[in-house]
Amino acid sequence: MKLLVVGGGGREHAIIKKLRENPHVTEIFALPGNGGIARDATCVNIGAKDIDGIVNFALDQKIDYAVVAPDDPLVLGCVDALNKVGIPCFGPKANAAILEGSKVFSKNLMKKYGIPTAEYEVFTDLPSALEYLETAPIPTVIKADGLALGKGVVIAMTRDEAKDAVRSMMEDKIFGESGSRVVIEEFLTGPEVSVLSFTDGKTVVPMVSSMDHKRALDNDEGLNTGGMGTIAPNPYYTDEIASVCMETIFKPTIAAMNAEGRTFQGCLYFGLMLTPKGPKVIEYNCRFGDPETQVVLPLLESDLLTIMKATTDGTLTEDMVKFRRGSCACVVMASKGYPQKYETGFEISMPDSVTDRVYVAGAKLSEGKLLTAGGRVLGVTGTGDTLPEALKAAYEAVDQITFENAFWRKDIGARALKALK
Ligand code: AMP
Ligand code: GLY
Repeated sequence: MKLLVVGGGGREHAIIKKLRENPHVTEIFALPGNGGIARDATCVNIGAKDIDGIVNFALDQKIDYAVVAPDDPLVLGCVDALNKVGIPCFGPKANAAILEGSKVFSKNLMKKYGIPTAEYEVFTDLPSALEYLETAPIPTVIKADGLALGKGVVIAMTRDEAKDAVRSMMEDKIFGESGSRVVIEEFLTGPEVSVLSFTDGKTVVPMVSSMDHKRALDNDEGLNTGGMGTIAPNPYYTDEIASVCMETIFKPTIAAMNAEGRTFQGCLYFGLMLTPKGPKVIEYNCRFGDPETQVVLPLLESDLLTIMKATTDGTLTEDMVKFRRGSCACVVMASKGYPQKYETGFEISMPDSVTDRVYVAGAKLSEGKLLTAGGRVLGVTGTGDTLPEALKAAYEAVDQITFENAFWRKDIGARALKALK
C-alpha cells in the first residue's frame, strides 16, 4: 500500500513511524515532511496548504490511502478534495473540521446540545465587545474565532488587558480575519487533560489521556507555545472522570455533529478542564495534537493503519484500539527565543541509539547533516512502566542530544507527579 501523510512536524513523524509498523505499507510520502521524517518516508516539497498540489501528487502516485494531519488543510477541505478523486482519507471533511476552524461554531454547538463548556458571548463589532468588558467578570478569556496557530487565546487578568486583547484582534487584526469575530468567555480553573479519540461518526473510542505543557518556561511561566512537552496517561483523568466525559461530552459531541449533518470522522481531540463543577470542554481540535501524539502513539499496541481505515469505512469498534500499560513522556527541544524570534541552521547531533524515540519537528537535511529549521526542533520521548521511569528515559536521551541555542523545559511531568502522590 502506498500512503501519503500531509504535514511536516513532530506529530506527523510519530504518525509515520507508527504507520510503518504495518507490513502491507510499501511506501509513505510526506508532504512536505522534514529533514528528520526523511529517514522514515519520502519527503516531497508540496506545502500542507497546497490542496491542488496534494491532489495532483496523490493521483500521479496512485496513492491508496491518505492521512491529513494538520488543521489548516482539514479546514480548507483537503479530505473533500482527495475523496472527490477517489482517494480515501483519514480526517474530517471541511464541514466537520469547522469544529476547530470556528470557535463560534463550536461554542454554539455545545450550547445547543448541552455539552458542558465555559459561559460565553460572541461579538462581531468592537464597540459592543468593549462595552461588555466594562462589567464582565475578571479574569476573562478572549478567543479569536478562527485558526491562529494556537495563539488566538488571551487570558486577561485585568479589564485593560481584556480590552487591549479585543482591540488587537478586532481592530489591528493581528490574526487577520480569524479575529473579525471574538468569543469572550468565562475563566475556568482546574487541571487540563487532552483526550484524543478515534471516531467513524458512530462510535467514539478515546485514546490514552495526556497532559500538555503549553508555557515556554519552567513552572508554567513565559509565553504560550504550541506545546513544550507531554506525558501520558494524565493522572488527573481517573476512570470515573473518563466515564463522565464519555456520557456528557464525547458521545453527545458525535451525536450533535450528526444532527447538524456534519458527521465527524477521524481524530477528534477534546481539550478538557476538570473544573470543580465537573469536566468542561476548553476546545475541540479536528486532528491529532502536537506534541500529544508523540506520547500517545508509542503506547498504542494496535495497528494504526487498521484503526484509521476503520474510521473511514465506518467500521470502528472499541476492541480495535488497545493501549499498553505504562507511561510515555515527551520533552520538546526548542530553539532559544521560541515562540518569538530565534535563529536556525545549527547542526543537530544525536547518537543512533536514541533516533528511534526522537520525533523531528523543525529540522532540515543539508549535505547529509540535520540542521535546526524551526522553533520546536525535536520531541524526545521515553517510555516506562511508570511516569518517573518514562521521564527519566526521556531526559536521559535529551542529555545525549546537542545543538547550539537548544532549550527545553526541565519540569515536564512535575505537576503530574504531584498528582500521583
Ligand atoms: P486553547 O487554544 O483554546 O486550547 O487555549 C489555550 C489555553 O488557554 C488552554 O490550554 C487553557 O490553558 C487556556 N484557556 C482557554 N480557555 C480557557 C478558559 N475558559 N478558562 C481558563 N483557561 C482557558
Ligand atoms: N498541543 C495542543 C494542540 O495540538 O493543539
